[in-house]
Amino acid sequence: MSKPKVLSGMQPSGQLTLGNYIGALQNYVKLQHTHDCFFMVVDLHAITVAQEPAALKEQSEAVAALYLAAGLDPSVATVFLQSTVPAHAELGWMLTTLTYMGELERMTQFKDKSEGKESVGAGLFTYPSLMAADILLYNADLVPVGDDQKQHLELTRDLAHRFNQRFGETFKIPQPYIPEVGARIMSLDDASKKMSKSSPNAGSFIAMLDAPDVIRKKISRAVTDSGREVKYDPQNKPEVSNLLGIYAQCSGKSIAELEAQYEGQGYGPFKKELAEAVVSVLEPIQERYRQIRSSGELYDVLKQGKERAAAEAESMLKQVKEKMGFVLL
Ligand code: TYM
Repeated sequence: MSKPKVLSGMQPSGQLTLGNYIGALQNYVKLQHTHDCFFMVVDLHAITVAQEPAALKEQSEAVAALYLAAGLDPSVATVFLQSTVPAHAELGWMLTTLTYMGELERMTQFKDKSEGKESVGAGLFTYPSLMAADILLYNADLVPVGDDQKQHLELTRDLAHRFNQRFGETFKIPQPYIPEVGARIMSLDDASKKMSKSSPNAGSFIAMLDAPDVIRKKISRAVTDSGREVKYDPQNKPEVSNLLGIYAQCSGKSIAELEAQYEGQGYGPFKKELAEAVVSVLEPIQERYRQIRSSGELYDVLKQGKERAAAEAESMLKQVKEKMGFVLL
């Protein structure tokens, strides 16, 4: 029997953060051994907001290298760039024609990204239909993502149903795979906002490539509350709860163990040791990242990934075209 399939991706629209790692990337690494996995750098999604061409190229390479540095093994998982497999854009268009304006208008990511802007690109609006194409092209069973992508996954499931009903059984209905702790890592300066790579304030996020001393400084400056109790209580202590979630994910300890460890000690030692836990996760990844970037192996991995992904995606696209009534030559 063939293994169940997994697909996911990240935008190269800035430096990957600890939120990307905890919410999604570490699950990519876990799932690669039990599932047939496809992980891409979603460069076509990144251009839904203006990108400087040189920065897009650099960030695309950086995200792919971080995938490998975090532990993705290209002999097991397929790692590729979305724009190198044209079937994504093609199916994206076909699914756009099946998507209702009202559905896209309800997407919170679109509302957040377009809020207060005078002119909003149409690509930002139709972005979720392209994401649905990414997933459905590979008949993914599972999609490892953070909590913020849940709504896009729901739309993907609706589009798969809609297509199957109209044109006959074609797509599997994918399930999200969301961590129990760490699905939504919040910003270090404001626990009501998600930690985001596109934030203009670098102190609000920990980039996966931040130097250890920068990580220590950012955590020591992270906003807490005026109390001194290290307790998980997202309603009343959102900042400390966020830090506890990060600590649990980076140390492998449970929240309860951490609460017990810091009972009666205030925030000083807690933050200091939290910073060391984060550094101990990111530092080895950074070392491997530097090796990968200087070795020149990245393009070979991405070429091989492109071929494997394209073979899969093109066969699906052909079925879709046939069902929709396109003339196949
Ligand atoms: P993106 O690039 O914003 O984020 C990549 C992944 O990281 C997760 N994530 C977080 N998890 C926890 N806490 C945070 N603060 C945090 N910030 C980001 C995201 O949930 C995501 O899993 N639309 C997607 C990219 C995409 C995609 C796909 C994902 C395009 N096609 C197909 C899955 C399948 C996005 O913008 O992710």
